Amino acid sequence: MSITTEGRELTGVDQLTFPQGFRWGAATASYQIEGAAQEDGRSRSIWDTFARTPGKVHLGHTGDVACDHYHRYRDDVALMAQLGLGTYRFSIAWPRIKPDGTGSVNTRGLDFYDKLVDELLTHGIDPMITLYHWDLPQILEDHGGWTSRDTALAFADLAQAVHGRLGDRVNTWTTLNEPWCSAFLGYASGIHAPGREDAQAAYLATHHLLLAHGLATQALRAGGAAEVSLTLNLTRVSPANPADRHDVEAATLIDGLQNRIFLDPVLRGAYPADMLRLFERFRAAGAIRDGDLAVISAPIDLLGINYYQAGLVRAQVGSPGSPVYPGSEGIIDVPQVKPVTAMDWPIDPTGLSDLLLRLTADYPGTPLMITENGAAFIDTVIDGRVRDTDRISYLDGHLRASHEAIQQGADLRGFLAWSLLDNYEWGYGYGQRFGIIHVDYDTQRRTPKDSALWFSDVISRNGLS
Ligand code: NOJ
Repeated sequence: MSITTEGRELTGVDQLTFPQGFRWGAATASYQIEGAAQEDGRSRSIWDTFARTPGKVHLGHTGDVACDHYHRYRDDVALMAQLGLGTYRFSIAWPRIKPDGTGSVNTRGLDFYDKLVDELLTHGIDPMITLYHWDLPQILEDHGGWTSRDTALAFADLAQAVHGRLGDRVNTWTTLNEPWCSAFLGYASGIHAPGREDAQAAYLATHHLLLAHGLATQALRAGGAAEVSLTLNLTRVSPANPADRHDVEAATLIDGLQNRIFLDPVLRGAYPADMLRLFERFRAAGAIRDGDLAVISAPIDLLGINYYQAGLVRAQVGSPGSPVYPGSEGIIDVPQVKPVTAMDWPIDPTGLSDLLLRLTADYPGTPLMITENGAAFIDTVIDGRVRDTDRISYLDGHLRASHEAIQQGADLRGFLAWSLLDNYEWGYGYGQRFGIIHVDYDTQRRTPKDSALWFSDVISRNGLS
């Protein structure tokens, strides 16, 4: 079979084999699956607060119970093992480890992750820890959250504490997940916690998140961490009309705001000039102190990429721009004529192959890993089975695109499906299902979807048939 997208053939062969040692697995995040929101000393996170703010989350859903993974982790690990996952990427809930945000460690919080890591290792699954996947302790937000430099310092302490307990068994450490979302959805458009709508705050948060990454990297290295990484949500941003200079400039700016604003400081040691101008315009440049970029650009071992969809933009005089990209006046998003997922996200695997090759060309020497890729569709359990052929085809297309990029020289080391389980999809609550395993939230019954069985087969043959 070959998959053709927009007339571009992604592969012409039937059997696709990935490089030896390719890492296969699935990912989750603490607030999205754990539940047990008030157990064992966990304090409130910004998402507990945001979910309770009227009008912010679909039907007012919260992560109080979620997939109850906190109590069911053994069964969930057994399911992972049945599927043959080699890697499991999960995140640590900061409010469990340091309920006051800083200072003393709550050992009961660490105990949970300690047991989870042991359970994974017993089943031969490699644990990959993300230290921050958006559940900031509310108490830190009360002191400014990511607009405050102190939050970056506190994060480095968190990294040290978690690594101190688990570093003897966990090799791969990711500092942050998608800092773009924390900064721009959290502080500019306000559609994520903490729900602020303040452009200056978003740029301050961007710098402090990057600094947090750098300081945590130092702490992890000092503790002897084997592999340090950062996960970004990156994408290809194209001009609606590549022959129109204004459209091309629009695409360059959005590429900056989505990709280069994080990639360049980490991998080149400097903010791009167009992004620095935005820091200045929004009175956030003062936050960038001497020496910060040296900390931020300490080498990483792996760049994690979360990819879901690609962007298409056009210049349009008079447009106010997008609230998620402060500084994007005169630019609009162009609707794409493509099949979409239940999130209304256009499906375009070529965006992924192009992205991987662009990273290979522009930021050479950094091994890459797809730390999230997947899709929400409307799933129903019929006779104990979920026939999610649309999800299989989504994953198949993106795996073919990944393979194509590898053939063309991308140093791609692994692929993790988002997500292991249906879970709390942030502002969409439980209304969107991304899992390869279906979760019935009334009974907490897990049902591996057809996509899970298909993915298990892909893993066992290290490729596609
Ligand atoms: C990326 C985020 O890391 C994850 O938390 C989220 O559920 C997925 N995207 C799907 O939106």
